[in-house]
Amino acid sequence: MFHLTEEHLAVQQAARDFAQNELKPGVIERDSKGAYPTEQVKKMGELGFLGMMVSPEYGGGGMDSLAYVIAMEEISKVDNSCSVIMSVNNSLVCWGIEMFGTEEQKRKYLPKLVTGEWIGSFCLSEPEAGSDATSQRTTAVDMGDHYLLNGTKNWITNGSTSKLHLVMAQTDVHKAHKGINCLIVESDWQGVAIGAKEDKLGIRSSDTTSIMYSDVKVPKENRIGEDGFGFKFAMKTLSGGRIGIASQALGIAAGAFELSVAYAKERQAFGKPIANHQAIAFKIADMATEIEAARLLVYRAATMKDQQLNYDQAAAMAKLFASEVAMRHTVEAVQIHGGYGFVKEYHVERLMRDAKITQIYEGTSEVQRIVVSRNVLNGELYVPMINVAN
Ligand code: CAA
Repeated sequence: MFHLTEEHLAVQQAARDFAQNELKPGVIERDSKGAYPTEQVKKMGELGFLGMMVSPEYGGGGMDSLAYVIAMEEISKVDNSCSVIMSVNNSLVCWGIEMFGTEEQKRKYLPKLVTGEWIGSFCLSEPEAGSDATSQRTTAVDMGDHYLLNGTKNWITNGSTSKLHLVMAQTDVHKAHKGINCLIVESDWQGVAIGAKEDKLGIRSSDTTSIMYSDVKVPKENRIGEDGFGFKFAMKTLSGGRIGIASQALGIAAGAFELSVAYAKERQAFGKPIANHQAIAFKIADMATEIEAARLLVYRAATMKDQQLNYDQAAAMAKLFASEVAMRHTVEAVQIHGGYGFVKEYHVERLMRDAKITQIYEGTSEVQRIVVSRNVLNGELYVPMINVAN
């Protein structure tokens, strides 16, 4: 069903080596201190992990989505602060600009974003517009040659480190979601202010902040797409973003699983390795089965995107399932580790804390259920990639 090429396998190996050799050694300390992974993000840029799917014409890796989710899985087994930075930069910011931006916008911004010289952020959520994303209060008033941007965005990944913001704002309130525009804003423009870094349960090293815009002048040429395209831009881009977060959740589950199997084979109790007790062996069987099912959904969504099929439903299913698997099985991983699972040194408690956010950001599990159920009820039934009748 999914043909992994030599290139996919090479990407997997490169991401695994980077995660195990360069991310793992400092990840506990960075998490404890909430320290931003400056050096690690720089290295991700050098290795090509920040603009994997961008065309080589703009300096990117020119890879497919399958290569991207394979790399995301490996990095997410270890450091989810790094993988969320990678995910937002790749699937929301670079992809959004390359797919819908003007040639000028692509030439100006993509080469900087793919190397990590600039990091991007996706600014949709607001204090009163989370799941209900059409209720934007941020305004972009049309002033002729520019927009005047005012408002506050919340929970922004890469909030203080991003040099480029994709900001959704309401230009014409009477047109509801059809009056929303997406504007490219640079962080050092007058009127942009960054809030304090949030002190979070998980992904503690990534910087999540609010961003305030007061009378920021945004040139008209920085609008993405036609007037009023902003909400559709956000939805289309988020569908791809959801594949990225699904692969992050998959990596969290797979990372906790690998640690649990190794521990269960080594740790002795009642005269034998705990893996030889059914209580643990059955947990391992359930984890292996559900993680593989999540991987198939993630690969399927990525492949549908690569084949330019409509992947909205597939992305929502992958994120819904993989994030629930990540939550459920990281809790089990802590249980398998017993007391050791409760301390930082064994890594699984961090993965358990990181798992929670995958059920929340880029659309909560409830939002994914809305997307899937609407598709099904509107008659767009699940279309399997393989026709079993053949
Ligand atoms: N592609 C194209 N258009 C789409 C679309 C898609 N995937 N989904 C919806 N639309 C269009 C609809 O067709 C409709 O347009 P028309 O009126 O022209 O037909 C319009 O958008 C409005 O759609 P809905 O009526 O379905 O909108 P809704 O208000 O019922 O909301 C929702 C639907 C799925 C709940 C949506 O609001 C949503 O996805 N909310 C969650 C937002 C979200 O994911 N936020 C995460 C923030 S970003 C983040 O977390 C990044 C980070 O930093 C990590």
